[in-house]
Amino acid sequence: GLPVRCFAGEKGRDRALKTGSAEIARLLARPLEELVAEADSLRRLRHGDGVWIRGLLEFTNRCTCNCLYCGLRAANGRLGRYSLTEEEILLSVRAGFARGLGTFVLQGGEDPDWTTDRLCRLVEAIKVETEGRAAVTLSCGIKSRGDYRRLVACGADRYLLRFETADPALHERLRGGISLRRRLQALDDLREEGFELGSGFMVGLPGETEAVRVANLELCRDLALDMVGIGPFIANPDTPLAGEASGTLEATVRMTAALRLLLPDANIPATTAAGSLFSQGREAMLGAGANVLMPNVTPLAYRERYLLYPGKDTITQDGIQELEAIAAHLEELGRRADLGRGDSPSRTRTN
Ligand code: 5AD
Ligand code: SF4
Repeated sequence: GLPVRCFAGEKGRDRALKTGSAEIARLLARPLEELVAEADSLRRLRHGDGVWIRGLLEFTNRCTCNCLYCGLRAANGRLGRYSLTEEEILLSVRAGFARGLGTFVLQGGEDPDWTTDRLCRLVEAIKVETEGRAAVTLSCGIKSRGDYRRLVACGADRYLLRFETADPALHERLRGGISLRRRLQALDDLREEGFELGSGFMVGLPGETEAVRVANLELCRDLALDMVGIGPFIANPDTPLAGEASGTLEATVRMTAALRLLLPDANIPATTAAGSLFSQGREAMLGAGANVLMPNVTPLAYRERYLLYPGKDTITQDGIQELEAIAAHLEELGRRADLGRGDSPSRTRTN
């Protein structure tokens, strides 16, 4: 059976949160303000006011997959494709590290040109560049367990692989035939090979029902994720889901708060999708339990081509130049930019 997790009750005492899906359904049905207030105080209790800042590098927009929602899908001929060189990536890492960034997130499509060998050499080069002090997070899709093992051996610390939706039929349809079972196998492999594990889902995908929302949360909890990335689905005109309704701010905030209560120790980013679709989207997530920001440090010339969805708000902002503005903005919110590695509490705890 699954361990019973604890969270701080309204009166600050710890009480066990039963782990059944009925309990999650009840959690989701609670008034939004109540949920948000509780998630925010639990975040403060467990994580303090620090917000971990990660440098995001979108290193290739080439992808062999055909997820229906995503602008990088192979069948999208309207997108100019690029792949950064090792030198370009290392220059961004050097600049970010000089400004104090302690984590670099390498995100890309499933690009066969980026073989595991090449990725391993890149991870090693980043470790050399940062004197072994920066954490490296990879986010480049499903690979074999052997590939994951080699990446860990080369020094990669964390891996992000969203399951996107916990509904098997919806998953298979939206991901162009790839099964949820295969995705979950990969998550299992990543965990077994020793990665700090991140996953998550999109909020408001076409076909999402209340049962799916409950299942999404339950799966995050059951996977005991170290990191949970969620954001609203944003309909992309260059995909088969053009014209569908996008996710709402309220649903995104509600799911953020519920995740914080279900996974008190998880690192939860306030995501670009939320900031792109809603003017105060990231701020709303930060106020509902989120404790991570991922400014984009990809060289500016490539930004507009990493177009998962339209309206992405990080196309013109230079994440490195921006760090001071981010720190000032967080101060206004009563929070503080934290530039350390920000390892998962499950890794750094001594017990
Ligand atoms: N809207 C919102 N998020 C999207 N992603 C991909 N396409 C979209 C979209 N149209 C998300 C997926 C993926 C992450 C990198 O971006 O959840 O895992
Ligand atoms: Fe490729 Fe990821 Fe986009 Fe799917 S969501 S098409 S795997 S980049």
